[in-house]
Amino acid sequence: MVDKIKQLLEEVDAFQAEKLAEVEDFRIKMLSKKGLISTLFNEFKTLGPEDKREVGQQLNVLKNKALDKVNNLKTQIEERVNQAKSSDKYPDLTLPADFTGSGSRHPISIVRNQINSIFEKIGFVISEGPEIEDDWHNFSALNFADEHPARDMQDTFFVEKNPDIALRTHTSSVQVRVMNSQKPPIRTISPGRVFRNEAISARAHCIFHQVEGLYIDKGVSFADLKHVLDHFAREFFGADARIRLRPSYFPFTEPSAEVDVSCPFCKGKGCNICKGSGWVEIMGCGMVDPNVLENCNIDSKVYSGYAFGMGIERITMLKYLVNDLRLYFENDLRFLRQFAPAY
Ligand code: PHE
Repeated sequence: MVDKIKQLLEEVDAFQAEKLAEVEDFRIKMLSKKGLISTLFNEFKTLGPEDKREVGQQLNVLKNKALDKVNNLKTQIEERVNQAKSSDKYPDLTLPADFTGSGSRHPISIVRNQINSIFEKIGFVISEGPEIEDDWHNFSALNFADEHPARDMQDTFFVEKNPDIALRTHTSSVQVRVMNSQKPPIRTISPGRVFRNEAISARAHCIFHQVEGLYIDKGVSFADLKHVLDHFAREFFGADARIRLRPSYFPFTEPSAEVDVSCPFCKGKGCNICKGSGWVEIMGCGMVDPNVLENCNIDSKVYSGYAFGMGIERITMLKYLVNDLRLYFENDLRFLRQFAPAY
């Protein structure tokens, strides 16, 4: 029996395991009710008192060693498994990163930022205002008389059937807010989203974006307006771009004009983008009507100013040859990805 105990002690010492299942097999083999050590304990009962003392001590040593072994191996293996799990959660941060691709700016944002930066470089400050406006800021202050048919030029979405509150139809409303709250000289551009109650088609949408500009100071003239628009056209469309102004009408400017740029595709020769004319319309402009200045508490005998306003969708169409306005709003990734920077 002493030999048997010795042999088992060696076996316990030598035992190693990689998996919990192996440790459990070992425990059953050694320590379960019918295991080798338990069997030895049964045999031990049959010994005479002399042998019992010596063998008993050795048996207890064997049993404790086996128990320790089983417990130690179990905790070792469990620790290893936990470590592997947590290193799953926290991968090696020193590994080189996988490139996952990135989003891109919407073409409307790209062009808006470009327009903003052209004007910011010559001293215009960006101003913003609410998309839900009252009648005064969107129409009345801008010299739209109450029943004036000019209000029909811009079909309006009213908010909850209240004729006084509407979604702004142009960002000229922001200019009213600026004139109301600041003293000249004022040099600002207002980019923003505007809304008109129009049927959606390739050429029209009920939501679109504008950038409007306003400059008010002493002695501002139409020549200043022409100069700044000429500068914008060359910066945006290229040094060979030309502009021309056609007389037009807006309630808030007098005189008013429509601005055409030489067709950026055929350079003025005539193509199907410019319908053979060599020119494409890009914005409206004019000298701020004295009534508008007075409505905003600016002395029209001391100050004069110009304003202009362009649709960002239209300019973007010209820049990227987009032929359907609806593409800007559908968020089709196949369309948007074409504007992603190349890597
Ligand atoms: N607000 C005008 C529009 O939405 C554009 C414009 C702005 C015209 C400023 C002249 C001066 O059509």
